[in-house]
Amino acid sequence: MENEALKMDLPRWLFDSAPSLQGTVFPRSKVVYRSAIPSTNSLAMTLLKEGAAEGTIVVTDHQTDGRGQKGSSWYASAGENLTFSLILRPQNLEKQLFHLSQAASLSLCEAIKNRCADADVRIKWPNDILMNRKKVAGILIESQWEGHAIKGTVVGIGVNVNQVSFPDGLRHPATSLRLACGRPMDRGQLIRDILERFSVLYERILHHISIERRYLNVLYGYQEPVALKWDSGEGRYPVLGVNEHGHVAIQLPEGIRHFDLKEIQFLLT
Ligand code: BTN
Repeated sequence: MENEALKMDLPRWLFDSAPSLQGTVFPRSKVVYRSAIPSTNSLAMTLLKEGAAEGTIVVTDHQTDGRGQKGSSWYASAGENLTFSLILRPQNLEKQLFHLSQAASLSLCEAIKNRCADADVRIKWPNDILMNRKKVAGILIESQWEGHAIKGTVVGIGVNVNQVSFPDGLRHPATSLRLACGRPMDRGQLIRDILERFSVLYERILHHISIERRYLNVLYGYQEPVALKWDSGEGRYPVLGVNEHGHVAIQLPEGIRHFDLKEIQFLLT
């Protein structure tokens, strides 16, 4: 009965996936849909504060003030893409928060690869998804803390699904699943696939079971030189992995150096 009531508020594309999102991803998950909203992450952070259950998913068709990493904006044309945020209440993950970003980016990468087997789908550290070296999806993770403990976390995901043109001046060249695979994609099936994959990986990281190997297999630049730029240099060097603090390890001529998000840029040209 509750599912029926919730379904009434959902658009057609989400309607068919909603029962399985509510039933399988997390036991108490619920879909909160808004036709237009400034940012699903902002609403999810508010709901988190108000006590929303783990697994609550905030979805919109038109995000008018989407936020990205490092204070950037996330643009997505209305009705063509996926813009959603997942509320989590992870226990004992304070020291391994980067594993959450690994799980989210891996679930996105694998769900996209599942639809476009011929495309080169990679995770660009820390959590951009590339198709054929163009950005197709991004993740913004925000947490609320109580002292040293995480009260809750919001995993915000934007995927360019059916959009075919992008504004000039984006930080990275952009693409969509439709452009890269040559056919339109069903957004309802895609969100369901992403969340089902994420729920399995989330269980693993909560139990401290490593997903490292799978992550490295699809990591952009892993053991192959890629163009990089940092405060005091630039060049083509291989990525060796990511340490427990979530810092990327690069093999420079003088030795291995670790960088955090603000310190290094991957140049996609
Ligand atoms: C990035 O690549 O910089 C991260 C982009 C994250 C965008 C998503 S869209 C849904 C959620 N709500 C937001 O305001 N941002 C994230």
